[in-house]
Amino acid sequence: MHRKRLVVLASGTGTNLQALLDARDLGGDVVGVLSDRPAALALDRARDRGIPATAVELGADRARWEAELCARVADHAPDLVILAGFMRVLSVGFVHRWPVINVHPSLLPAFPGAHAVEDALAWGVKVAGVTVHFVDELVDNGPVIAQEAVDVLDDDTPATLHARMRRVEHRLLPSVVRAFCADRVDRDGRHVRIRP
Ligand code: GAR
Repeated sequence: MHRKRLVVLASGTGTNLQALLDARDLGGDVVGVLSDRPAALALDRARDRGIPATAVELGADRARWEAELCARVADHAPDLVILAGFMRVLSVGFVHRWPVINVHPSLLPAFPGAHAVEDALAWGVKVAGVTVHFVDELVDNGPVIAQEAVDVLDDDTPATLHARMRRVEHRLLPSVVRAFCADRVDRDGRHVRIRP
C-alpha cells in the first residue's frame, strides 16, 4: 500500500494541521498546504516543515478563485484533501474530484456554519462536540466519519469551550486520516464505518 498524499486547506491558526504534522504512523504525508489567507499561521507551520504552502486569495471572481485553488491542489496529486479550519465553501466540482474531509466544532447536524461554538453556547446545550465528515456540495452536510462529545461547563466562554474542542480535534482528525491512509474507511451512502 503506497503512502497517501495529503493536501490540507486551512484559513487560520492551523493547530489541526500541526496535529497532522506531528502525528505518528499516519500512513501518509502532507505534501501541500493551501490557504485563502496569505497571513494564515497554517502556512508558516507548513513552511517550517519544508512543505510547499501557497495562498490563493479570493478576489471578485469566485469561479476563477476556485479554479486556481483546484489547480494548485491538483498539482499535488492528492489522495485526500483535508479541510482543517478552512472557512470557505467549495463547489460540487471540487468536492467530487477528490475525497474531501472536514473537521467541524459541533455534533453535526447541530450547529453547521462558521460560528458553531458561539451558536452552541447561545442555544444553551449541555453537550457539544466535534465532527469529522466527508464534504459534499452543501455546508457541513456530508456523511459523518467520527464524532466525539465535549461537555459544556456553566462558565464556558466560546474561547474555553473551543480550546477543549480543539484538544479533541487534534486526536480525532489524525485518527480518521490514519484510518483513511490504511484504507479502513468504508462508505455506503451516508453511512461510514471505520474498520479496526
Ligand atoms: C477548528 O476548531 C475547526 O473545527 C474549525 O476551525 C478551527 C480551526 O482551528 N472549523 C470550522 O469552524 C469549519 N466550519 P485551527 O486553525 O487551529 O486548526
